[in-house]
Amino acid sequence: MSAPISFGFAAQDAVIVTGAASGIGRATALNAARLGLAVIAWDLDEAGVAATAETIRASGGRAAAVPADVTDQAQVEDALARSTGFGRVRYLVNNAGPASASELEFDAALTMAVGSMRRVTMSWLERAAAPEPALVNVSSVAGNVIGTAPDWYPAAKAAIMGYTRHLAAYRSDDVRANAVAPGMTDTPRLQGFAASDVGQRVLQRVPLHRLGTPEEISWAILFLLSPLASYINGVLLTVDGGWTVTQ
Ligand SMILES: NC(=O)c1ccc[n+]([C@@H]2O[C@H](COP(=O)([O-])OP(=O)(O)OC[C@H]3O[C@@H](n4cnc5c(N)ncnc54)[C@H](O)[C@@H]3O)[C@@H](O)[C@H]2O)c1
Repeated sequence: MSAPISFGFAAQDAVIVTGAASGIGRATALNAARLGLAVIAWDLDEAGVAATAETIRASGGRAAAVPADVTDQAQVEDALARSTGFGRVRYLVNNAGPASASELEFDAALTMAVGSMRRVTMSWLERAAAPEPALVNVSSVAGNVIGTAPDWYPAAKAAIMGYTRHLAAYRSDDVRANAVAPGMTDTPRLQGFAASDVGQRVLQRVPLHRLGTPEEISWAILFLLSPLASYINGVLLTVDGGWTVTQ
């Protein structure tokens, strides 16, 4: 076995990151590679995910881009079949999900947002075949504390945490499962928000008075995923600059 590297990740290990073309997923992919993991970057956005993988390779890391829509079972199976180039895939980050501002039909939105995380997880677990696999699901403070519109978004983000707790309790022989709840994070989805009047008002109520960065969220994800967090199972780690403790 190779010597452990940063965060305790082993050199032969690989991670699948969904939604890796942009924002939190992209930052997680880049920082996972900095920690020595091989990164299998999934996204709907073929050019974007290719760019993420190329950025990693250009800095000496190992990465593959896998275009895939996580809401489609056939595409998930196909993507998993194409995610084998780095040997065992011990880690999974379920990050992809529809934007909170999307006007989606409620039932369909839940299927897209939480159903897709379950779909990827179940298919990956069938193939994980690695010791002590771990996953992190990306939820939101909208799922545990903050009410937001449209209706499906807080419902789906709460459901993601419920599903994570299910995995932690009932699939603990198969996977260690945790979730991260980002607060407002400076990704393309919040472009222009910080500078807007409403954004300024909201940020006044955040104790750190700013948006989080995708990198700040990614380190929380990677810590929970890593062997350093080996006795952490079933938690929701809020990363929000203190916003929700002031609500
Ligand atoms: N930005 C925030 O303030 C914030 C706050 C809380 C939670 N989140 C959550 O973080 C996650 C990432 O959000 P972000 O802000 O980084 O968004 P982003 O738009 O910057 O990136 C999301 C990526 O996911 C991809 N994607 C979307 N649907 C997909 C699908 N069906 N299959 C494959 N890829 C898909 C997109 O193409 C995009 O590249 C989401 O689950 C979001 O709900 C974001």
